[in-house]
Amino acid sequence: MKVTVSRGSLGNHRSKLLLVPLFEKGKQPFQTKAMKGEVSKLYLLYSGYKGNEMILGVGMGKKPTLEHVRAAFGLASKKVKDLKIANFSVLFQKIPGHADSAAAVAMMEGLLLGAYEFDTYKTKKMSLNTCTFLYPGSLTEEVNRTTAIAESVNMVRYMANENADVMTTTKIASIAKEIAKKNRLKIQILEKQQLQKLGMNLHLGVSAGSRYPPKLIIIHYRGNPKSKETTALIGKGITFDSGGLNLKPSGYIETMKQDMTGAASVLGIIQAVARLRLKVNLTVLAPTCENSIGSGAYKPGDIIRSYSGKTVEIENTDAEGRLILADAIAYAEKHLKPSQIITMGTLTGAAAIIFGEHVTPIMGNGKIKKPLVDASLAIHDRMWELPLYKEYKDAMKGDMSDLKNIGTSGRDAGTLKCGAFLAAFAEKTPFLHVDLGGTAWADKPHGYTPKFATGAGVRAFIECFRRLSRR
Ligand code: BES
Ligand code: ZN
Ligand code: ZN
Repeated sequence: MKVTVSRGSLGNHRSKLLLVPLFEKGKQPFQTKAMKGEVSKLYLLYSGYKGNEMILGVGMGKKPTLEHVRAAFGLASKKVKDLKIANFSVLFQKIPGHADSAAAVAMMEGLLLGAYEFDTYKTKKMSLNTCTFLYPGSLTEEVNRTTAIAESVNMVRYMANENADVMTTTKIASIAKEIAKKNRLKIQILEKQQLQKLGMNLHLGVSAGSRYPPKLIIIHYRGNPKSKETTALIGKGITFDSGGLNLKPSGYIETMKQDMTGAASVLGIIQAVARLRLKVNLTVLAPTCENSIGSGAYKPGDIIRSYSGKTVEIENTDAEGRLILADAIAYAEKHLKPSQIITMGTLTGAAAIIFGEHVTPIMGNGKIKKPLVDASLAIHDRMWELPLYKEYKDAMKGDMSDLKNIGTSGRDAGTLKCGAFLAAFAEKTPFLHVDLGGTAWADKPHGYTPKFATGAGVRAFIECFRRLSRR
């Protein structure tokens, strides 16, 4: 959907459908007894108004936050699709307590994110074409920015929703190449042979049962050449997580095409950061492979020498994400010497036991921690810190090896033990880990967040880099 801004007033504007924010309090053009403006309620009027065929009142409630605005407009965009109207307009109204441009961005964000639907396999598709924003000023920067961010989030959603045998390691690499080409970024793709030469044995081990080749994708963006600081952001790219020989049971395996969300997210983030020309230095790494079963698969009980030199006992082949990330962390530390390393991905189901679908847990000491949490809360892509205490690190120590991949105390503190395992591989570099295991996938839609892949965390990172860029 393309958003265009028109300064023209309502007096000379004609549309098939006009969206109008309605408040529970205060003066406004369309309030009737039946149209109370309750928050996130939609009110459809078939009778025209000043030449507009239909009106859709979008309830804002009494004192809307920007999140209320985003959510209500997210629902409104779905309603527009239900009505099969591809071209529609929005009559901007001031939102008390918020700058006009911020309120307009929230409306656009709700529409652009809310209209997303995974319809690749739907025979009948309905997509929105243009949205004309009636606004008394210019919004060029805001429209470009909001479009870039929403396109990245929607790309991540698409990649995670797509079939695992379509969104293969090769396909992810080709998407990465396209992003690099469009934005003139340097890209390296380490193929299986190179991973073997380097000795990235954890990554190779996880991929051993699959017919798809493992790859390590690396893209560099330097938006602040004067600064020596570079963030390495690593995303988990398991194209399908069967659990390996510790096969996942029914009820757990069905959504595991989402297990490359971390890789998709870092690609989405660097794409938006580059499009917005942010003044930060960012290198993203996407280790990708499939965790499959087969006669060649790695096995419980294997002890593997990782790229860092540390050995790992595989207690369970289903704790595979931390293994591919561990080799990528060691690679980043050795070859890129970043000022901080961040890992992100769908690492543990336990993340959902802690926060459900609502909050993404983060852990570690990376410099970006506070600005990231602040940014995430400000735009409602919420993250919250968990403590990486020594006890969790001790739990991951090996008996026959340096480390184990599950550690002691069974399922207790699964998310933290995973974070502690990863932290052991960032030997010299400040490190932060972001676990999307609870937030990457939703069983029901909410506001501007669709059912299935959500794109959680992507907006928070982009907002954080935007804030760091302004300093
Ligand atoms: N990809 C899963 C985690 C996951 C589960 C993400 C559900 C999203 C939804 C990960 O590889 C995994 O299997 N983790 C195990 C770890 C356990 C074996 C220590 C888990 O969470 O059960
Ligand atoms: Zn797993
Ligand atoms: Zn996994």
